[in-house]
Amino acid sequence: MKDVYEIAVVHGDGIGPEVCGAAVEVVRAALGSDGPLRFTEYPAGAEHFMRTGDSFPASTFQACRDADAILHGAGGIPGVVRADGTEAGLDFTLRLRFELDLYANIRPVRLFKGVTSPLRGVGAGDIDYIILRENSEGLYAARGAGALLRGEVAVDTLVQTRKGIERIVRKGFELARQSKGAPEDGVRRVTCCDKANVLRSYAFFRAVFDEVAADYPDVATEHVLVDAMAMHLVLRPAHFNVIVTENMFGDILSDLAAATVGGMGMAPSAEIGEAKGFFQAAHGSAPDIAGKGIANPYGTILSAAAMLEWLGHKHEDERLSRAADHIRSVTEACLADGLLSADLKGTASTHQIRDAVCERVMRDHARLKR
Ligand code: IPM
Ligand code: MN
Repeated sequence: MKDVYEIAVVHGDGIGPEVCGAAVEVVRAALGSDGPLRFTEYPAGAEHFMRTGDSFPASTFQACRDADAILHGAGGIPGVVRADGTEAGLDFTLRLRFELDLYANIRPVRLFKGVTSPLRGVGAGDIDYIILRENSEGLYAARGAGALLRGEVAVDTLVQTRKGIERIVRKGFELARQSKGAPEDGVRRVTCCDKANVLRSYAFFRAVFDEVAADYPDVATEHVLVDAMAMHLVLRPAHFNVIVTENMFGDILSDLAAATVGGMGMAPSAEIGEAKGFFQAAHGSAPDIAGKGIANPYGTILSAAAMLEWLGHKHEDERLSRAADHIRSVTEACLADGLLSADLKGTASTHQIRDAVCERVMRDHARLKR
């Protein structure tokens, strides 16, 4: 337990400041005015790049590295690109992942009461799984390292290492053990999602998965090819509990999965390594709705709850673990009560959601103290 936890906050671009600001207020409400978290803001992102030519200042990197946790809104503006065509505003997220070795990207996919799924006949509780995205290698390892020759040949290489696969697969089994199992049958199950039928690197991923699985005989396992997985996540989402997969596949499936539970605004994530933790929603900066006050902050609020849970566990600090549970249950209640943003077919603004969640969190506090 620490007296003070330093949280590096980077608001980023587009709707980033709106959703991140809401999440910080909710955390403050949950911990009280004399709570142990100290938030400090640092610049990074596409807008900062346009202004200064630097997307991720060294001072921001140092602050993130030294902080107890990092909270991010969203980064990137389409068209703000480097000479090779890639977006400058993504440096913050991508460099943190690689330089802080945040190998596990934990993305819970859950359909809440009050939110309508576009899938027919699917209700709250029917979708509740984790996409565990390998976050430190795979195809993304080629970022900035691929070849671009004579304006004619472009090459990016997919990298899979034994260590990298082993640790992400282990994480998957641990998450399954802590879970209630798949909604369909209550079975704790880890699904290895790959393309082992076509590419060596994925066949290797699957082979290492099978080796690690032998250490977890209490957890069910299966292999699903990624193309089939895209179909299963639509037709049979209740079957899944924990899905472990390569970086790029995890990226793509995350958006498909989010769509089944209300959209990108409902997609939190926790990107963690052995020592460091980085928390942001899985969505982008949505420049088309930025500044309008209508962005859905739930994904970032739930990511901030994941941050508290992670910090609470790491530092054996009950205050933080309790605050995480508290934010989650209030979020659930607000959604069930119909406090929905425009993307969820509701009319609540970002501020209305922020304020309602904060008020409810503080009301509970007052009640508990009485
Ligand atoms: C995500 C995002 C990122 C990714 C971007 C912002 C770099 O889409 O976290 O899923 O591609 O991984
Ligand atoms: Mn993505």
